[in-house]
Amino acid sequence: MGKLQANVLIVLMAGILALLAWSLFADGEGAPEAESAASEVGATADRREPVLFNAEQHQFALAQMRGLLETIRDLDAAEMAGDTARMAQLAREEGPGQAQGREHPAGFHEALPDGFRAMNRAMRQAFGVMASDLDGGDLQGYREKRQQALGNCVACHESYRFEAYL
Ligand code: HEC
Repeated sequence: MGKLQANVLIVLMAGILALLAWSLFADGEGAPEAESAASEVGATADRREPVLFNAEQHQFALAQMRGLLETIRDLDAAEMAGDTARMAQLAREEGPGQAQGREHPAGFHEALPDGFRAMNRAMRQAFGVMASDLDGGDLQGYREKRQQALGNCVACHESYRFEAYL
């Protein structure tokens, strides 16, 4: 076999291999069977545990949640502005014990499952340590506790949902 013929053969074989690989890949990716199998695994079912509230408790809980998201945004804004004192204040306002001053609807605490309370407490404690880390100028400690608090948001959202019965 001449050198040119050998080269042509190699290029041909490479082309065939590439085609084969592509067809295998394309089959696995776009197969309609695969998609319908995935949607059968209960994508329509909410498997999280419901927290049962009346309408007032429900609205109160949602408003608290929106407040938490605002706090995260405000913490970032204060960090960008280099305002550590403001960051500490924001974190402290979400810390343990701070909710006592706010008006909870009647029966609110009684409506919360134990696991929910525990995750909420863990998050409040993380905010509290964020505040004291910031007071001490420990930004790295603050960031670690912030990650922990965000982990609590994620974990609770994966475990519970709110449901209003009135
Ligand atoms: C102890 C449990 C728990 C923790 C901790 C928690 N959440 Fe939630 N949050 C919930 C539940 C339950 C819902 C309602 C979800 C549903 O019904 O689909 C919710 C809803 C929300 C909503 C939607 C509010 C609305 O008006 O629809 C936001 C925003 C939110 N959470 C932000 C946060 C942020 C940010 C954090 C952490 C800093 C956080 N949450 C921590 C349980 C928690």
